[in-house]
Amino acid sequence: MHILRKTAQRDAHLALCAALVFAASIVCGAARAQGMVPNTVEAQCASCHGPAGDSPSGKVPRLNGQNYAYLVQRLKGFRDITRQSPHAAYVMWDVASTIADKRIDALAAYYAAQPPTPPAPKAPLAQKGRDLFLHGAEGVPACQQCHGAEGAGAGATPRIAGQHAPYLNQALIDFSTQARVSATMNHPALRLSQSEIDELVAYLAND
Ligand code: HEC
Ligand code: HEC
Repeated sequence: MHILRKTAQRDAHLALCAALVFAASIVCGAARAQGMVPNTVEAQCASCHGPAGDSPSGKVPRLNGQNYAYLVQRLKGFRDITRQSPHAAYVMWDVASTIADKRIDALAAYYAAQPPTPPAPKAPLAQKGRDLFLHGAEGVPACQQCHGAEGAGAGATPRIAGQHAPYLNQALIDFSTQARVSATMNHPALRLSQSEIDELVAYLAND
């Protein structure tokens, strides 16, 4: 039963890959460049995160162009559900807790190599969001200190520019309530009001 399901997933992914090669030859080309053959694990990821990680759903984060070290750390982090929001534990623990470290490295390298989605700032809130991002406010450090002037992050600090708006909004709420535990982010998020979160999201997100 299990094997049948996995085979079906692999076939579906191979079909998808073939279609994409035909249409754009980006996904499979990048997978080859990373030295990995698309397999069942990746097909499972793609069922929620979309082909090449550009997720079609606002609540499922984009992985395309996300930083390698962050992806590795976050995927390993899902193994400890006490540090995740209930929603993240519910959707990701099952998957992430069963993947070996080597596979995590390969998946992270694959998604990091995909072109990132650019942000699409939304007026009028985006202007205030930009100020907050660049300069901070009382009790709120400037986000760019760590996430970089363009929000692209680096190393274990994630790219946040171009991420989905509902996901960014939820991530900031999860950090501020400490549903998602992070030595670095709980403090910056703690003092953010919902209207400041709305402004930051209007500046950073792409839908
Ligand atoms: C059932 C749908 C589903 C599947 C299957 C799935 N994910 Fe996820 N994933 C999600 C959702 C939803 C979130 C956001 C969780 C949250 O924070 O609320 C997420 C979060 C993540 C994150 C965190 C991203 C960030 O910006 O912090 C990574 C990395 C990730 N998934 C990688 C993967 C990989 C790799 C696979 C395949 C092995 C996979 N996911 C399979 C739904 C899924
Ligand atoms: C001191 C450095 C630092 C500052 C300042 C900072 N961040 Fe972060 N941020 C991080 C790190 C490191 C992570 C990864 C945390 C983790 O997963 O444990 C992160 C994670 C995030 C995430 C989650 C991304 C994802 O894909 O799940 C969001 C959203 C975010 N930060 C937004 C912000 C905003 C908005 C600000 C400004 C108000 C800000 N950060 C300020 C270091 C920082």
